[in-house]
Amino acid sequence: MKILLTGGAGFIGSNFICSALEKGYKIINVDKLTYAGCLDNLGENQSHKNHIFYKVDICDREKLQEIFEKHQPDAVIHMAAESHVDRSIDCADVFIRTNIIGTHTLLEVALEYFTKLNNQKKNNFRFVHLSTDEVYGALDSTGIFNESMPYRPNSPYSASKASSDMLVRVYHKTYNLPTIIINSSNNYGPRQYPEKLIPLTILNALEHKSIPVYGNGQQVRDWLYVDDHVQALLAILHKGKVGESYCIGADNEMTNLMLVNKICEVIDNLRPSSEIGSYKDLISFVQDRPSHDFRYATDASKLKKDIGWKPKMSFKKGLDHTIQWYLDHYDRVSFEDARKRIGLFDSGQEIKPIDNTLIPQIPKEQQNLNLNHEGI
Ligand SMILES: NC(=O)c1ccc[n+]([C@@H]2O[C@H](COP(=O)([O-])OP(=O)(O)OC[C@H]3O[C@@H](n4cnc5c(N)ncnc54)[C@H](O)[C@@H]3O)[C@@H](O)[C@H]2O)c1
Repeated sequence: MKILLTGGAGFIGSNFICSALEKGYKIINVDKLTYAGCLDNLGENQSHKNHIFYKVDICDREKLQEIFEKHQPDAVIHMAAESHVDRSIDCADVFIRTNIIGTHTLLEVALEYFTKLNNQKKNNFRFVHLSTDEVYGALDSTGIFNESMPYRPNSPYSASKASSDMLVRVYHKTYNLPTIIINSSNNYGPRQYPEKLIPLTILNALEHKSIPVYGNGQQVRDWLYVDDHVQALLAILHKGKVGESYCIGADNEMTNLMLVNKICEVIDNLRPSSEIGSYKDLISFVQDRPSHDFRYATDASKLKKDIGWKPKMSFKKGLDHTIQWYLDHYDRVSFEDARKRIGLFDSGQEIKPIDNTLIPQIPKEQQNLNLNHEGI
């Protein structure tokens, strides 16, 4: 099967390509190579006979048309996006351009291509769109996101993803393009750009730099190992129902502070430091993100029931593996600039610890969370 994949040089995309090539898929990888995209993420697979790369912007309609025409893909998996909430707070322009206009351009070209296919190819064609659970907004200490919840995005990033989901929905409803939307929780694993919490914590610890925790660190995320997401994508590509959306989560809820502590414990064991007692000593509470969503938790029941997917990686094993990967690839992925604090309307400022007495208290309704500590 030949898949036209957008965003294949990024975090999820590169993990997807490595797995899909191993399974015999052919990949046409369309990526603009923004700051977040790096072909080295693909290692030797860059020159794999079943991998063809195009450095192309998804807003470039003509180039996309040429690629569809030349390669005649059986499916599209669309994951190219601007993906960092803090960046979207500093400047939403590129999020609107790539995530909304880029998705619209890709939908237009895919529809034009789809319309000309013969019936058999039409029946098998899929346009799978990667979205996020952040489109549903934030939860209190109870409840869980599922496919029937209303969209209530709270950041320019999640608003741009929500808008792209609406366009994808419309191209199915109005034009019969066979689309499927995937709303996944936070991913973790190898090859993630170090502006995101887990790699940033690992790399700052290794460099004995302060480890920033936003606000009181009590925000809750549900962590999904990237390869579990990749396997879900492949299963949905073959067995997913056209016009549907699927939520993906792994029931690994924990607060950001718990997560950062856990990472420090693992590095304390793997790379003990003679200079500091524990990497936990580097933890520093910093000003919270504006409109920071309190809790995400995502119900994958529909995916489990209809498609038969379930996550395979335990959180403990996945985190150990991720940390080891960053230790092994430190020279290539340490990008100091990526770890500057942004998203406070004043980019590039130094991360300053805040007075602990000023850390916001945990609101009553957010206390006594019944979190899943599987593997911790
Ligand atoms: N990482 C997560 O935790 C997570 C969770 C849920 C959903 N998602 C979604 O999954 C997708 C992939 O996320 P990721 O973490 O791998 O992102 P990423 O930021 O690591 O990678 C994005 C890739 O898209 C490319 N890209 C950006 N703009 C482009 C453009 N205009 N044209 C072509 N290519 C462009 C980049 O070069 C990069 O390779 C995104 O759509 C994101 O919204 C991510």
